[in-house]
Amino acid sequence: MRVLMIGDMVGRNGRDAVKKILSAKKKSLGLDLVIANGENSAGGFGITKSITTELQLMGVDVITSGNHIWDQKEVLDFIETEPRLLRPANYPEITPGNGWVDLGDVVVINLIGRLFVGEFDCPFKISEEIISKLSAKKILVDFHAEATSEKAALAHFLDGKVSAVVGTHTHVPTADDCILPNGTAFVSDLGMVGSKNSVIGFDPAPAISKFRNQIPTRMKIQQSSLVQFNSVLIDIDDVSGKAVSISRIDEVVEL
Ligand SMILES: [Fe+2]
Ligand SMILES: [Fe+2]
Repeated sequence: MRVLMIGDMVGRNGRDAVKKILSAKKKSLGLDLVIANGENSAGGFGITKSITTELQLMGVDVITSGNHIWDQKEVLDFIETEPRLLRPANYPEITPGNGWVDLGDVVVINLIGRLFVGEFDCPFKISEEIISKLSAKKILVDFHAEATSEKAALAHFLDGKVSAVVGTHTHVPTADDCILPNGTAFVSDLGMVGSKNSVIGFDPAPAISKFRNQIPTRMKIQQSSLVQFNSVLIDIDDVSGKAVSISRIDEVVEL
């Protein structure tokens, strides 16, 4: 099985870049499954029902998320009806939505980190509990976390139990893609699909003043015709569920 995992799509630019290249990539790479993080897909903050549909029509099979999933309040009205739109599994049990989805022979799990992110249930414990219930061998994990150490620790903890652990949230792609000793593919962060020459997809000016004057400032999407597209391609052995290869697919898309 060949899977493409795409980093946080930031605003319309991020969505348009995915729309522009994904169908050609599906054909040229022979993709079986496309997973993309949608937590910033609505103007940088959250996701709406119409954007969920838009991403599905583009060919995104499973949308993962993270701390920004709740930014558009309408998500509370539809997340329960969209099993392929995930919120992190280590939110409290009463939180609406699902943290993982079983697609038959493959399962996608979304988790959120705790270091510099927030107070959530233990991602190590929750992932172990979910995996113990599964019969599928092919399991992909989007671990939405800030600290590379926490992401590497979870990946090593799940090595041999899942096909891949990929990080999201920082919007910055990392060069540490590898296969761990027991067959789990890992990369600390996928990166993003968002404007080039930006602060993680956003206009640098408010970001600079926020860091300088310490006054909370609303970020706005950086407008640019050049969009950075970051993803990883993972090949998984269908019998064992172990990763055969992981490689970065990064490019700049001109809208
Ligand atoms: Fe994000
Ligand atoms: Fe995030």
